[in-house]
Amino acid sequence: MKTVVTSSIKKAAKYILAGEPVGFPTETVYGLAANVFDEGAIEKIFKIKNRPIDNPLIVHISNLNQISQLAKKITISAEIVIERFFPGPVTIVLKKNEIIPDTVSAGLDTIAIRMPELELSRNFIQECGVPLAAPSANLSGKPSPTKWQHVYNDLNGLVSCILKGPKSNVGIESTVIDCTVNKPRLLRPGKISLQELRNIFPDITFSNSDKFRIHHSPGMKYRHYSPTGKVFLIDEPSEIPADLVKKYYKEMAYIGITDVKYRIKKNILSGEEEYSHYLFNFFRDCDKKNIKFIYCQKVKEEGIGLALMNRLIKAARD
Ligand code: TXA
Ligand code: MG
Repeated sequence: MKTVVTSSIKKAAKYILAGEPVGFPTETVYGLAANVFDEGAIEKIFKIKNRPIDNPLIVHISNLNQISQLAKKITISAEIVIERFFPGPVTIVLKKNEIIPDTVSAGLDTIAIRMPELELSRNFIQECGVPLAAPSANLSGKPSPTKWQHVYNDLNGLVSCILKGPKSNVGIESTVIDCTVNKPRLLRPGKISLQELRNIFPDITFSNSDKFRIHHSPGMKYRHYSPTGKVFLIDEPSEIPADLVKKYYKEMAYIGITDVKYRIKKNILSGEEEYSHYLFNFFRDCDKKNIKFIYCQKVKEEGIGLALMNRLIKAARD
């Protein structure tokens, strides 16, 4: 299959309407989209990515009216999140309407919904005229793509079309909130932070060591975001073993906020936001350069730092 890369939303939308999944930009990461009502196209997404069928997809909308097509009931907590954060890097989970194919929700009776902040994404969804079910546009297990070139590297020859857009501004996936219950639960941390959510839902909690989410958000149990090299989490760059550097400096890399004195591949960031923005890109660079030992500086689990640590912990997991 030849993969067409285009900047034309009209052209890309034609593929969606013909039942072909399309890679498309959002402000968090690039997604791999299909018409939510087209079961055949949804099945293709799982095949292309080699995604486990028990991992449900997020449905992307371009206007708020589409929510009632997808969800049975819009709860009060959902209304609050929508009012405050839509469009934005946040996803809500609600009870799903029966018309939504079970493949989208991986057999759950709920549906995840998000309205991207990036205008180009919304214009594309609008042009398609239907909500778009889309996971991140990486091969399963690889870091999420934050540039169209990442999508091309992973899916060239596997998808018919990639809609070219800007680099994803946020760089990590959306905050996922279960709004089916009165007291909403944070299932996946993201740019919209726990602190911000606490301002409206004082009881909401999240811990990167909490096991309960695994049962509520199937995607969280999979090893994710992983480069091929081994990832080590460190507090300070001084923890990088000097003897290892002597021998293997060409196969070593470091990402973090504090600079490292060694001349190894490195990416020094100004803070947690910039760190989040570049992390997946850095992992992909490490793969390209055959880096075997990847040292990542830990951050405070505050603001976007909680989400960043969440992705780092996953990448470091065996
Ligand atoms: O930022 C994002 O959310 C990106 C862009 C493309 O929008 N998408 C994304 O999709 O990260 P994906 O498939 O890589 O992650 C979807 C997450 C998974 O952890 C999945 O388990 C969870 O959302 N999810 C989807 N539907 C759910 C549901 N009904 N209940 C609970 N969790 C759900
Ligand atoms: Mg993903």
